[in-house]
Amino acid sequence: MLPPLSSPLPALLTTALLLGLSSVACSIPQGGFGGGGGPGGGGSGQNGGGTTTTTTSTTPTITLAPATYTTSSPVLSASSTTVLSSADNAAAAAAGSSNSSVSVACNNSPSLCTRSYGNITHMGAHDSAFLRDASTGNSIAGNQYFNATVALSAGIRLLQAQVHLSSSTLELCHTTCSLLDAGSLEAWLGKIKHWMDSNPNEVVTLLLVNSDNQDVSVFGSVFESSGISSYGFAPSSSVTPSSSASSGWPTLQSMIAANTRLVTFIASITPSSAYPYLLNEWTYVFENPYDVTSLSNFTCTLDRPSTLVGAGAVSAVGSGYMPLLNHFADTSLTSSIEIPDVSDIDTTNSPSNTTTGALGLHAYSCVRQWGGRKPVFVLVDFYDHGPAITTADELNGITGDVTGRGGSSGSASSSSSSSASRAGAMVGFLAAAVLLV
Ligand SMILES: *[C@@H]1O[C@H](CO)[C@@H](O)[C@H](O)[C@H]1NC(C)=O
Ligand SMILES: *[C@@H]1O[C@H](CO)[C@@H](O)[C@H](O)[C@H]1NC(C)=O
Ligand SMILES: *[C@@H]1O[C@H](CO)[C@@H](O)[C@H](O)[C@H]1NC(C)=O
Ligand SMILES: *[C@@H]1O[C@H](CO)[C@@H](O)[C@H](O)[C@H]1NC(C)=O
Ligand SMILES: *[C@@H]1O[C@H](CO)[C@@H](O)[C@H](O)[C@H]1NC(C)=O
Repeated sequence: MLPPLSSPLPALLTTALLLGLSSVACSIPQGGFGGGGGPGGGGSGQNGGGTTTTTTSTTPTITLAPATYTTSSPVLSASSTTVLSSADNAAAAAAGSSNSSVSVACNNSPSLCTRSYGNITHMGAHDSAFLRDASTGNSIAGNQYFNATVALSAGIRLLQAQVHLSSSTLELCHTTCSLLDAGSLEAWLGKIKHWMDSNPNEVVTLLLVNSDNQDVSVFGSVFESSGISSYGFAPSSSVTPSSSASSGWPTLQSMIAANTRLVTFIASITPSSAYPYLLNEWTYVFENPYDVTSLSNFTCTLDRPSTLVGAGAVSAVGSGYMPLLNHFADTSLTSSIEIPDVSDIDTTNSPSNTTTGALGLHAYSCVRQWGGRKPVFVLVDFYDHGPAITTADELNGITGDVTGRGGSSGSASSSSSSSASRAGAMVGFLAAAVLLV
């Protein structure tokens, strides 16, 4: 039996058909990249915030409570404040750096505390605000079964979303606000902040697509009003690609100790010293192509930023750019409409190193092609399938060393298979419906 055809679906069809959109599954404009926001074009705003955060000392510009830490010990040492909450972590803080036998988990593993932010694989949820669940009537434009805070509890540490301007408000909309409006950016950031308040040893990354080319100050005011700006990490010049990204970025434990645990990339933005934690993605990150409609067509080729296409991925790695691996497939509903490919999702997100289209095979192929550099960021649809986090754990070398994850991570068996098949049925129905249009 088909689920009811709810409001997002006709909206999808009419909007996509009338506007002639090439893809509703993923539309990520590069925005004003050519306008000086690219590598080397960050201007004084990039490094002008007065931040001196490095791997050996920190003078956070945002955090009010000073904290000290050591880089050689996995134990956080907070002399005047504590950022740790659990009993174990409080014991660790009390013991200070003299007691190195206490394990403090950072991003779900003690092994990651001493690793540089740029030398870790952060598993990400593509279009993380756009859900295929009851809240959207199981919209076929949805890319995830679980919302951002559930994803964080499951171990996802990178949340990607499109931001559009709608009635003078920054809204999380999929392609257009008439297709799928997931609410305001401010409300969403507030929920992520709430999760970060309760999970003080976690470093979270946001990747926001600036679909309507809004000024950095428009984003900045929303980051401030949501309260999440207090966690904003403002990098020093040592993390720009002129130095090695993997050594230039601080360790997770230093970011946690300073309580500057939110890294925010925007594609694209001209940075401002007024909001030093809002980073232009293309100053730090390169991506492989995202518009894939065949499981045999995933590649490791550098696709964006366009200024680096000629030089290629290996050169970008050598310059310190952090690789982002797009690994999600769309399926064509019509010649002009693409939607997330749910029918192949268990293959797409599999850790298998041998199956065509599997995340494991794609990721390790890219590691080889990128001269041994692992993806720092990975984006998948329906992250709970696979489960995708298994591949990130393997890349991080922590498969036996994971703590503190909640449900829907998932574990090997997913609760979403029934909704996946329902969605599959809906795709079939819509394909038939489109023929009647
Ligand atoms: C270190 O902390 C652990 C766990 O709290 C405790 O059992 C151990 O006795 C401590 N060691 C020292 C040297 O303080
Ligand atoms: C990255 O982390 C791995 C695993 O801990 C380590 O072996 C390697 O030296 C690190 N690389 C850099 C550049 O820090
Ligand atoms: C996700 O859903 C839970 C449970 O309904 C809710 O508490 C939480 O605020 C939601 N998070 C987001 C980002 O919408
Ligand atoms: C896969 O890639 C090949 C080679 O670039 C291209 O010719 C083909 O059209 C692609 N297939 C799909 C379904 O995108
Ligand atoms: C895939 O290959 C990598 C590198 O050889 C290995 O660490 C990982 O365990 C493999 N994963 C699977 C699922 O076989």
